[in-house]
Amino acid sequence: MRLLGAGLLADGVRRIARRSATRRALGASIVLGVIEFGAGLNMLERAPISPRTLYRVVAPVYDPIMPLWRDWLHRDATRAFDDALRTWCRPGSHVLDLACGTGAVLECLLAIGAPLASYTGVDQSAPMLDRARAKFGAMPNAAFEPLDLRSGSLPAGPYDLIASAWALEHLPDPGQVIASAAERLRPGGVLVLLFEADGNSWRERSLRRVWRFLAVRLIPAREYAAWPGATSIQRFGAAGPSAVVLIAAPTTST
Ligand SMILES: C[S@@+](CC[C@H](N)C(=O)[O-])C[C@H]1O[C@@H](n2cnc3c(N)ncnc32)[C@H](O)[C@@H]1O
Repeated sequence: MRLLGAGLLADGVRRIARRSATRRALGASIVLGVIEFGAGLNMLERAPISPRTLYRVVAPVYDPIMPLWRDWLHRDATRAFDDALRTWCRPGSHVLDLACGTGAVLECLLAIGAPLASYTGVDQSAPMLDRARAKFGAMPNAAFEPLDLRSGSLPAGPYDLIASAWALEHLPDPGQVIASAAERLRPGGVLVLLFEADGNSWRERSLRRVWRFLAVRLIPAREYAAWPGATSIQRFGAAGPSAVVLIAAPTTST
């Protein structure tokens, strides 16, 4: 009987030891995983992908994945941007779209029935422009032109509405592009802009490295508040990534 009791006890001790060894191994794997993940993010951040490469890769799937930010991550900001387009795209407007991609802004203008006189979309990515042309190339008053916003000059215009969605955060100096856009507006014309802004939520802090890898520079409030003619600034995403809808009616319009 004693022998049986001792055997059971030894078996129990062995099982507990095995279990705690398994737990220790699991704990060590988790710690190693976290370290590897952090090191991976660090390496990615140091070698950011260029927007040209990024959108060459992303172009074929860009339209199918768009609901990820339009309808999920930034739903309220996107609705506010669409509302601003509805308000500011007046009958007979000439519209310029900065970094038009596959033409999402034109799609929105058509969906809200905006009566356009002309639409010009500019973008540096040939594969994104090809997709836009495939969708809207038959529209006689729509044009899609290659342009690197960092170095090229904007079409002369003048425009009644200059829009941009989810692109200014790819530029090293978006303020400079906004200043030249302001010069292409007709008197009374407006800029309607949607972009990712810098914030301080835990989600933003944890995503910062991923943004850097994706060549995204979240725009600080002190920068966009100083853009010419900024009249309305709506900020979205208190707990998550921040997006801003900014309307500017620059007094310097020609
Ligand atoms: C997230 S997409 C947004 C496209 C579109 N505006 C939309 O709302 O779906 C960003 C776009 O910015 C363009 N882009 C990035 N850097 C650029 C630059 N320096 N000049 C022109 N376009 C640029 C990319 O090619 C891409 O089409």
